Amino acid sequence: MNFLDRNEFNFEPSQKVVDAIRNFDPKDLCFYTRIYDQGKKSVISVRLSEIYNVPEERILLGYGGEDILKNVVHYFLMVGERKTILIPEFSWWYYNRIAGECGGNFEMYPLHETEDTFAYDVDEVIEYTNRIHPRMLLLASPNNPTGNGLTPAEIGRIMENIPDDTMVLIDEAYASFISTDTAYIAPLVDKYDNLIISRTLSKFYGLPGLRVGFGFIGKGHDQFISFINKYLGFNRFSEAVALAALDSDEHYRKVADDMEWGRQLYKRELDMLPGFKVYKSVANFILIKYPLEISDELKKALALNDYKIKFMTDKGLESCVRITLGRREQTQAVCDTIKRVFLKK
Ligand SMILES: Cc1ncc(COP(=O)(O)O)c(C=O)c1O
Repeated sequence: MNFLDRNEFNFEPSQKVVDAIRNFDPKDLCFYTRIYDQGKKSVISVRLSEIYNVPEERILLGYGGEDILKNVVHYFLMVGERKTILIPEFSWWYYNRIAGECGGNFEMYPLHETEDTFAYDVDEVIEYTNRIHPRMLLLASPNNPTGNGLTPAEIGRIMENIPDDTMVLIDEAYASFISTDTAYIAPLVDKYDNLIISRTLSKFYGLPGLRVGFGFIGKGHDQFISFINKYLGFNRFSEAVALAALDSDEHYRKVADDMEWGRQLYKRELDMLPGFKVYKSVANFILIKYPLEISDELKKALALNDYKIKFMTDKGLESCVRITLGRREQTQAVCDTIKRVFLKK
């Protein structure tokens, strides 16, 4: 089966990752890491601190990005009186769930459909945040499932114009596929104490099964850092693989090029067909509006070819599919199937 429904990685891990797994010494698992003796949480946070230029103590680590998001939302909604998180109208369902788990509630701000994307209206996000004054504001960049992102300048403008007792959590799980810029992170988290940026090795680095997420937080949150940290260290096997992945950007950039090939193929082949719209994507998936009446046929045809894509059910996106960008032959097969089913109607 070709799973193009959950934004996983349909390519090969880098050679460095493969070597790190093969050369891992099982005896390393017989001991806790000793790095906490030096006041550091993990070899990964030490390496991330060098790459992103953020002090090690303000690097967050977790069991995937989901764990960072969950810890952040649970902590900040549970400590203090205000229990609301403001999230984008179309976004990952998991944000609502983790807010609900700790007795929090959510409100939504709109995303606006434009000619080729769903866009944040930065002024509107600022207005909503000032009016509602939530405990947390969630921004996702790139956003799942719409595929659009925010620029560092837009993030800066939001941070500058909202109350500083609203914690801002930017979910950047899908970062790096298009933009390679990471230099904006350190100045932002150095300047704004109420900012957290969450990333992961699951998407660009293609290791969702490894379960490693990381993040960056503004100054002055020692109690939260103690809450999220693991006292006896992290998984030593995952650490070895993560270090190899972080050292393999060249390999994963090539993969990102294949994904760009896929974006262009969908745009070229489907965008001009009546009833279709291929949204701009800066992530490892693409959102495509299609004529809903072909839905049943399309599901059947894809299943026959052993392909799974995501048929959206979110209110307002019912006529869309979200397709993970896979290998070129997979993209070609899905694109051909959609076209064939449509032209037969
Ligand atoms: C928007 C978004 N954020 C974060 C994640 C977390 O992924 P992981 O826990 O594998 O890092 C996902 C996974 O699909 C996602 O869609």
